[in-house]
Amino acid sequence: MPSPSQEFNVFHGTVIHSLSPSDLEINENTVVIVNVATGKIVLMERKVDNLNEFLSGLGFLENKQYNVNVLKKDQFILPGFIDTHALIYRLPQHAPQFSYAATGMDLPLLDWLDTYTFPKEAEYAESEHAQNVYSKVVDRFLSCGTTTCSWFATIHLEASKILTDVIEEKGQRAYIGKVNMDQNSPDYYIEKTESSVQDTRTFIEYVQAKNNDLLTPIITPRFAISCTSPLLQALGDLAKEYQVPIQSHLCENVAEIEFTQSLFPNSVNYTAVYDDHGLLNDKTIMAHCVHMTEDELKLIKEREAGVSHCPNSNFNLQSGVADIRHYLDLDIKCSLGTDVAGGFATSILDAMRSAFTASNTVGILRSQYGNCSAKPYKALDAKELIYLATLGGAKVVGMEDKIGNFKVGKDFDALVVDASDDGPVRLFRHDGPWETLQKFLFTGDERCLSHVYVKGRRVAGWKQSDGADRAE
Ligand code: GUN
Ligand code: FE
Repeated sequence: MPSPSQEFNVFHGTVIHSLSPSDLEINENTVVIVNVATGKIVLMERKVDNLNEFLSGLGFLENKQYNVNVLKKDQFILPGFIDTHALIYRLPQHAPQFSYAATGMDLPLLDWLDTYTFPKEAEYAESEHAQNVYSKVVDRFLSCGTTTCSWFATIHLEASKILTDVIEEKGQRAYIGKVNMDQNSPDYYIEKTESSVQDTRTFIEYVQAKNNDLLTPIITPRFAISCTSPLLQALGDLAKEYQVPIQSHLCENVAEIEFTQSLFPNSVNYTAVYDDHGLLNDKTIMAHCVHMTEDELKLIKEREAGVSHCPNSNFNLQSGVADIRHYLDLDIKCSLGTDVAGGFATSILDAMRSAFTASNTVGILRSQYGNCSAKPYKALDAKELIYLATLGGAKVVGMEDKIGNFKVGKDFDALVVDASDDGPVRLFRHDGPWETLQKFLFTGDERCLSHVYVKGRRVAGWKQSDGADRAE
């Protein structure tokens, strides 16, 4: 990391990023230069063999302080991971809650919420508890390389503010939602409609008053089951008034869908419930979307809403398997979510692997039980998994012009991956960056991340901050 007097941060080595789901660019011998003050990428130049000569030819570096990071073989830069759906109430690595980790996976969604989730979330009425857990959680997500995250907090205004403060201090890019629930929730964890709306307004203004472009408040009706029609409508109105994004759960589980349809008989389907209340637009993130009808997919596409695919959780709660290939074919915006604690893993690397398994599962089920003569199913491949974790996520959070890859002018949200024998994890593969990348994707972990940057600022990584990567 550059010291405060450094004006530019220069990287030279292998730079990997997505341009589209199928187009993964692997650039070797590439220079990326970041303006430390703005956090923006000011230059990307491919095929630079002589670094010193190249840098000395750059007028804008003259008389400027800059730090040079030369990446070795089996080290590379990747865009930061984007988690479009995370909740925090029960973390396996959070010691007092560890006992729930293995016991909470035995129930389907609605029973799981009543039995495990709501009691845990209710504990966040205590600010001290929120401060303690949130601080650990955000550290953990950053260390996993999640540079952008869309968070569900709880129904509590104070705890949601605390989460915002913690995220601000630690430097993550985030959407933060105070959760709304005014029906079908336990007595100890429910809001009155009016206070739910008022607290949401207060929370939006609290986040916006920080004037920190890394932080965005997001309207967060938990799901249609836990919100009355007047609350959903008021939240749709707030989203419009403040021009803020929206997140919720959609078509995760069959019983959930049936209950929702019984609660909202005037809407043609579950997706339409959100649409009918002004909550489905190009700033909406819908988590899960496992059991979608073609009509619902059409509506999602028409409204340009995004999907957060949470395969780890969908397996654990036996919710089902979302057919992301189909959604991509329909040109629906797709991304990945950990859905902690429905998902047991905090890392988007895990989400990529689970998405791979989920996609293979769709293909296997089709050929084993379905119509074998149908066109062979093409499961998601490694390029597409990287896309979902980066540029796909950027599109879903409406920040494609800011993050997701290393186009000049974007913010430098990046991971420096060290898969070399000098790093803490030996991946035993040295035949080229594409092989090393796949090895990292499927067998690496956060110990491979030597530096994690958000908007040019180093926020995590195992390597001590300065010096080691410097050119001689
Ligand atoms: N649907 C409503 N609330 C939740 C939740 O906390 N987790 C999951 N996975 N689905 C939900
Ligand atoms: Fe969820």
